[in-house]
Amino acid sequence: MNKDKLSNIITRSYRGVFPNIGNNVYVDSSAVLVGDITLADDVSIWPLVAARGDVNTITIGARTNIQDGTVLHVTRKSSGSPDGNLLAIGEDVTVGHKCMLHGCVLGNRILVGMGAIIMDGVIVEDDVFIGAGSLVPPNKVLKSGYLYVGNPVKQARLLKDSEANFLKQSAINYVELKNEYLEQGSQENI
Ligand SMILES: CC(C)(COP(=O)(O)OP(=O)(O)OC[C@H]1O[C@@H](n2cnc3c(N)ncnc32)[C@H](O)[C@@H]1OP(=O)(O)O)[C@@H](O)C(=O)NCCC(=O)NCCS
Repeated sequence: MNKDKLSNIITRSYRGVFPNIGNNVYVDSSAVLVGDITLADDVSIWPLVAARGDVNTITIGARTNIQDGTVLHVTRKSSGSPDGNLLAIGEDVTVGHKCMLHGCVLGNRILVGMGAIIMDGVIVEDDVFIGAGSLVPPNKVLKSGYLYVGNPVKQARLLKDSEANFLKQSAINYVELKNEYLEQGSQENI
């Protein structure tokens, strides 16, 4: 891990557990990461992201980007819900600006459009595109290979080849961008 470049990240413990951060991860200094959060290699976390792994766990897979203003949280275990709802985000996922991901499970190569809300118990399969502003209600399953849009979200159509290819390309673009930010070094105010 680039400890020198991570020194100004705001990470906080909850019940003694600190976030676990992989190699070559970029976290903007205005983001807040609390508790049981695991970031795999090459993840990027952009300004004003708030991620709280307190009453359950958050895991984020390799090369995934979480864009500005996004909120990540989870649901506690209870008698009616022994596992609660953890948040798991797979590899090569793009989470656009100002999304809300709560207690849901996302696979790989997914694009979550700006401002989307994904609620507890949702499962998003691999290779899915979620339009900007969509609301995905609790426990819904979004099927692999489709575009979903709307509030509440509906299956719109099969992805075009260009869109399916863009899912991976978007993650590559963000890995390159965060590498530039890491190379730039300190984010101190001037
Ligand atoms: C959904 C999306 C992929 C466009 O898909 P598309 O099939 O090319 O859609 P079109 O622009 O041809 O519009 C088709 C219809 O869908 C509607 N539409 C487009 N985007 C929509 C959205 N996000 N939610 C609901 N409806 C949407 C259009 O208004 C249009 O409706 P109409 O037929 O009644 O006029 C795009 O609008 C989108 O939401 N992209 C997400 C971008 C993003 O957030 N990226 C992450 C940040 S980097």
